Order: sequence, then structure tokens, then C-alpha cells
Amino acid sequence: MNSLCFSWMSILLVFLINFHAVHVHGASDKDLISTVCKKAVADDTLKELKYGFCVSSLQADPKSKTYNLFDLGLLSFNNNLKKGLFIRSYIQKLLKDGKQSPNVMERLKGCSQDYAFIGRDMEDAIGAFGSGDFAMAGIPLDIAYNDDIPACQGRFNGGLTSPLTKYENEFRQLLNISFTLTDMNTPSYM
Ligand SMILES: *[C@@H]1O[C@H](CO)[C@@H](O)[C@H](O)[C@H]1NC(C)=O
Repeated sequence: MNSLCFSWMSILLVFLINFHAVHVHGASDKDLISTVCKKAVADDTLKELKYGFCVSSLQADPKSKTYNLFDLGLLSFNNNLKKGLFIRSYIQKLLKDGKQSPNVMERLKGCSQDYAFIGRDMEDAIGAFGSGDFAMAGIPLDIAYNDDIPACQGRFNGGLTSPLTKYENEFRQLLNISFTLTDMNTPSYM
């Protein structure tokens, strides 16, 4: 074999090894995230959860390619904490800069009460999930999804536009991803 031929063979070999690594291992790692997100989208009877939003929320951590179901659950619960705290501080910012109409300001004051305990609640949820108490972990998520968010949104009923809509929609989607991951981590799940 001449040396030119040898170097082409080496290049081909390196290429094939990398191709294998990316396509076999990369694909199977990504599969867990896509399995979770397909199930989360299927679980959502109202068709509000976007598959792409789900995938990018679970790729937020560059290491999540190597995560198992439990790690992905913790990541998802941490996403809830971040989004809840973001909305709470965004409300404070809007109240402080005073650029909204007096009507909206009034509603936002109410919302700051609705979100007063969001950090504590989402941290409780992380704690319960982390210790494997999946039934307990769902409770604060339920409170956020069914009480806090609708309470704040309801304040804008009657023709007012909430400046929080975009973030609350994202928060609701993140919570639903956690509901699905809680299910999938529960031992009775098949
Ligand atoms: C969350 O899940 C519930 C129950 O399936 C569904 O009705 C709702 O549309 C979902 N919401 C979002 C934002 O995905």
C-alpha cells in the first residue's frame, strides 16, 4: 500500500468512527429527550405544549444529553423554579418602572401576591422530587398550574391584556413537562 492510499484510509477510518459516535450515541441520547417530549405533547389534551419548546427546555443544560429520566426530571423542576422566579421579578420590575396603565398596575399588584410564594413552592417541589417523593412533588406544581397562574390571568379578564401572557404560557408548558416527567419517574409507570 502506498502512503497516499494509507492516509486516505486513515482519514476514512477517523471519519467513520466519528460518524458512528455522533449518529449512534448522539441519537440514542437525544432519544430520551424526544421520548419525554413526545409523551408530554401526547399527554396535553388541549394541544398547548409545543414539542420544540419542550426539547429546547430539556437541552438547556449542555450535559442533558447524558441525563437519565431522573436527571431530566430535576432539570425540568429547576426550569419551573427559574421561570416562576423570573415572572415574580418581572412583575416587580413592571410595578417599579410604572409604564403600564393604572388599570394594569392594579392587576399586577394582585399578581405579585399570587406569585409571592412561587420560589418557595418550586423549591419544595425540587426537594420532594430529589428525595424520590414523586406524589408530593406534584402538589406545588399543581398549585402553580391550577391556582397561582389562573388567579393572576383572571385579573385581566374583561378586555385587559396581561404583559405576563407570554411568560405564563411558557411556565404552564414547563409545568406540564414536569407532570409528564413525574409520571415517567413513578415506579408504577410502564
Ligand atoms: C397541560 O396539561 C393539561 C392536561 O392534559 C392540558 O389540558 C393543558 O392544555 C396543558 N397545558 C399546557 C400549557 O401544555
